[in-house]
Amino acid sequence: MTDDASVIDLLPPDFRLGAATSAFQIEGAASEDGRTPSIWDTFCRVPGAVAGGDTGDVACDHYHRMPEDVALLASLGLDGYRFSVSWPRVQPGGRGPVNPAGLGFYDRLVDELLGRGVTPWLTLYHWDLPQELQDAGGWPARDTAFRFADYAELVYDRLGDRVTHWTTLNEPFCSAVLGHVEGVHAPGGRSLADGVRAVHHLHLGHGLAVRRLRSAARRPLDLAVTHLLGTSGPATDSAADREAARRADAFGFRFYLDPILRGRYPRDLIDDLAAHRVEIPVRDGDLETISAPFDTLGVNYYRSLRSSGVDEHGSPTDSRGLPVTRGVPHGGLPVTGLGWEVMPHDLTALLLRVARDYPGTPMVVTESGAAYEDRPDADGFVEDTERTAYLAAHLAAVSRARASGADVRGYFVWSLLDNFEWAEGYAGRFGIVRVDRSTQLRTPKRSALWLRDTALRLRARR
Ligand code: NOJ
Repeated sequence: MTDDASVIDLLPPDFRLGAATSAFQIEGAASEDGRTPSIWDTFCRVPGAVAGGDTGDVACDHYHRMPEDVALLASLGLDGYRFSVSWPRVQPGGRGPVNPAGLGFYDRLVDELLGRGVTPWLTLYHWDLPQELQDAGGWPARDTAFRFADYAELVYDRLGDRVTHWTTLNEPFCSAVLGHVEGVHAPGGRSLADGVRAVHHLHLGHGLAVRRLRSAARRPLDLAVTHLLGTSGPATDSAADREAARRADAFGFRFYLDPILRGRYPRDLIDDLAAHRVEIPVRDGDLETISAPFDTLGVNYYRSLRSSGVDEHGSPTDSRGLPVTRGVPHGGLPVTGLGWEVMPHDLTALLLRVARDYPGTPMVVTESGAAYEDRPDADGFVEDTERTAYLAAHLAAVSRARASGADVRGYFVWSLLDNFEWAEGYAGRFGIVRVDRSTQLRTPKRSALWLRDTALRLRARR
């Protein structure tokens, strides 16, 4: 940690430190003030979909405790707060006029943040698609991209005078692949074709929204999109594993960055998908829209897996005769409470890869953090040594990447609060602030105090 501390001290004074959350994971108030259900409200009710049968109905009750939460955030001396807007709260059903009560909540949130000297970093879409749009086809349907652009503009019209940092989408990979191919996130689909259509329409929605916001803006904006990224490498040096690593890189990495930053889908990905008889539904002009210039790439990083080209039984092909691509852990590394390997050096490698392959792309780490099985003392305080070391190591990893030339401008911890960790329910605690599930009491953990001290040191040099 000492070594990490001196590396962190190399960060420039204008480096942004913040904390992140998302609407569905913290707000609760699921049917208040005109909010309609999202796909996650529906998914939570599918038996067995979410651990413990947990739902977002109450979550951290942030909708009712927002001023208190903002005060807490400000007391930690953080510069930025990354939050998301709930589409079904602001535009119930996903189309038509704005719901003033719903949008009013974000209006107050933004004012509260600014009043306390915290910069709002607003994400327009963090997975809570209005259920009515899902019923009309969801992200596999092209129309959803256009609905998203309309919604983006509605939010911009109200908050654009005060919010500079706008992120269109959070982790399209999860919406598309976990939600439509692997069935473990809402809406719970299991179709590669739907997942691929969803990726394309998410990209399209991003590009359309970037254009709308840019033309509506009366001042310079920081427009961003956030992707879940990691590195990919072969599990062994075998030809099958190396080929699997290439496929994983095409499907999990270049599928997301190439269209937005290079204006094309990777040729090898198109060929891989063709073997599955799946096509990306690109229409004339789409790639031009999708690659509309934006300002910052948000990078969410947690871990990376290696790729194996054989299944558990050593077979290189699946039941349909298609090549196996299986993610496997590195082994021999410490793991978090969710069993995710802790590999900060990989974050450095990832940021340097983006810097090398997509030169001139400013980045912000929009999420980094870890779930551990916290043990509060009698006062509810958590001495989360592991999480603190995790954050220090990852912030140092960012500093190292910067020193080697990656243009990384900020780091947001996931998450401010223990919250609804999707399919894991409330069991996955990522917060730097403990939330007692029965009383909703908030208690900053050791990691929050460490972050406050780090933020203070950074500020002292401004
Ligand atoms: C990324 C997602 O954006 C966030 O919602 C989630 O809680 C974290 N990963 C941790 O899994």
